[in-house]
Parts: sequence; C-alpha cells; structure tokens
Amino acid sequence: MSKTTTATEFPGEIKVLIDEQKIAERVVDLASRLEKDLDQLEGEVTLVPVMTGSMLFTSDLIRHMQRPVRIAPVTVQSYPGSSTRSRGARLQTPIPDALRGTHVVIIDDILDSGGTLAVLRRLIKAVEPSSVRACVLLRKNVDHDASAVCEYAGFDIPDKFVVGYGLDYDGLYRNLPFIGTLPSDMINKEDSG
Ligand code: IMP
Ligand code: MG
Repeated sequence: MSKTTTATEFPGEIKVLIDEQKIAERVVDLASRLEKDLDQLEGEVTLVPVMTGSMLFTSDLIRHMQRPVRIAPVTVQSYPGSSTRSRGARLQTPIPDALRGTHVVIIDDILDSGGTLAVLRRLIKAVEPSSVRACVLLRKNVDHDASAVCEYAGFDIPDKFVVGYGLDYDGLYRNLPFIGTLPSDMINKEDSG
C-alpha cells in the first residue's frame, strides 16, 4: 500500500539527484549563454516563466542577467493532483498580448513529454512575437513531442519523477533547495501509469 503524503514533514527518503551547488553553477552558465544570444538581437526581451514549477529557477536565473527584460508569467497545469503522468497541458491564464513584437524566452522547470512547450509555442506564435526560444532547467530522457523544441537545457536526467527547486508532487516539496527523487512507495501507483 502507498504511504500517504503529509504536509507536515519532508520524508528522509528523498534522494538527492542534483545538489544545490550544482544547480547554482548551471544556472549561472545558462544565464550567460542566454544573455550572450539575446544580446545579438534588436528589441525588447520578454521572459515567460511557466508557473508554478519554474518559480525558483526563474528567480535565480534573472538575478544573473544584466540586460533589461520584461517578465510575463503564464500558468499551465499538466499534472493535476497527485498524478505523475501528464494529462495534457492546459493553459490557465491568457497569453499576454504584450509578447507581440518582442523576443520571447519561455522558462520552464522540466521538459518531459513536451506537451507544455508545444502548446505554449503554438499559442505564443499566434500573438506574433519577434522570436521564441525555450529554456528549461531539466530535460528528461524520454521521447518528446516533436514540436517541443528547447534551445537551452541545464541538465539531462533519467526518466524518474523528481521534486524540489520548484517541482512538486501533489503540491508539496517545491521548497526543497535540491532536485531529488521520491521513493516509489511514496508515489500513488494509480497515478503513475
Ligand atoms: P510536459 O508537458 O510533459 O513536458 O511536462 C512538463 C510539466 O510537467 C513541467 O512543467 C512540470 O510542471 C511537470 N513535470 C514533468 N515531469 C515532472 C517531474 O518529474 N516532477 C514534477 N513535475 C514534473
Ligand atoms: Mg510546469
């Protein structure tokens, strides 16, 4: 039987996959690569963080960018409740019209099936930005949706369910400072198929 997740303590069994130090180094590296490329372009840049998972990643990334950027978050839900398999990306907020004519950078926590990035790119292109690119902290080693292009990725990781540094399971663990894997007995088996 699966253990139930409680909101009162972090289970000791979460295994560290990527520690705080490694994340911090890679974020600096990503920010400088991104900024170097954006500096080649004319015109305004709008970062589009995908809430809620990219909250910590975005806040660290932008503190290493020196150029002016606008920030226009969108909310996408793909893993409702305690599921660990995408049920299809659903946009919960409108695409900001202010993206029109600017260079857009979608920022997400993780590229898994690719559904989220594919949907977002299609909807963002419809408001006619000058360009669109995507930056994710993690990229899972799975077959992605062919239209889910991602120009910048921090780490390639195995196909395991991960939490921490913004990523959640059933709304919990986003505040862990590292990326970790949950023990399989903590994941509700009915949701992981
Ligand atoms: P995709 O649409 O399947 O690429 O999934 C992307 C979204 O699913 C991400 O923005 C995350 O919010 C969520 N997600 C995917 N894999 C994981 C995971 O291992 N842990 C937590 N959330 C995940
Ligand atoms: Mg997400």
